[in-house]
Amino acid sequence: SLKQGAKILIGVVVPSLRNPFFGDLVQHMQENIPDNVSLSIMTAGAGQADQTVEILVNSGVHGIIMAGQLAQPVAIASSLKKRGIALVVLENHDGLVDADAVFASDKMGGHLVAEHLLALGHKHVVLLGNQVYTDNLQYRTAAFKETMLAAGAKVSEVATRNLTKHAGRAAAMAVSITQATAAFALNDELAIGLIAGLNAHGIQVPNDMSVIGYDDTDYAEFFRPALTTVEQPLWLIAEAAMKTVVARINHPDAERQVAAFDTKLIVRESTAPLS
Ligand code: RIB
Repeated sequence: SLKQGAKILIGVVVPSLRNPFFGDLVQHMQENIPDNVSLSIMTAGAGQADQTVEILVNSGVHGIIMAGQLAQPVAIASSLKKRGIALVVLENHDGLVDADAVFASDKMGGHLVAEHLLALGHKHVVLLGNQVYTDNLQYRTAAFKETMLAAGAKVSEVATRNLTKHAGRAAAMAVSITQATAAFALNDELAIGLIAGLNAHGIQVPNDMSVIGYDDTDYAEFFRPALTTVEQPLWLIAEAAMKTVVARINHPDAERQVAAFDTKLIVRESTAPLS
């Protein structure tokens, strides 16, 4: 462990700062930073995270907060542990015993989305999302599908290349031909892209199709129609991640820490009862 008051360097890895979810996460961390800590922010796309971890290690970080997907999470966590570098992963990953975890429950979030669409009377919904699911997205989609299917609803699926506005817009035609009455876009980025694409095809949200996103990114309430979505408590996640990584650096042999937060359904204008 470090001497009291020593400077601490923490690496933060996120998939993309273009998704305001991660921009806000980094912002909250920066605003919550102890005096003796500085951050080194890196983005890593699919397949780049393992390499990015090594770059950060070589630059001398004492700990890493990881929001991206590691290709070999178990191997990397154990290699970092051996080298005395703390690792906090921002998703639920039960097998990752050598890393601490901080996350908002994707199981709860996926379930809340399904309950909302069911309560509005939707019986055929389309799930719009990535082809390659990271663990958090797997939990999110599994909980959503389980709840919908248990209620006897039909779930169509449209895969996207990634979780961006562009991918959401490009998927609009594929989504509309499913004839589903509501869409669950796996994050707000996809949701606003999808709404733009549906509008371009003359499909109005929520009158012709309901759309729900995920994240409650800061534009969700300003976009029109204002987005119905699921809030992840970013401030709490950022604060807990920072505390956990610093605690791990100071107490390398402490028990594994897991901080799990609730998610919350935020109902706005983009979802409506089935008419
Ligand atoms: O990485 C994509 C998504 O995972 C983000 O938009 C957010 O939902 C995160 O949990």
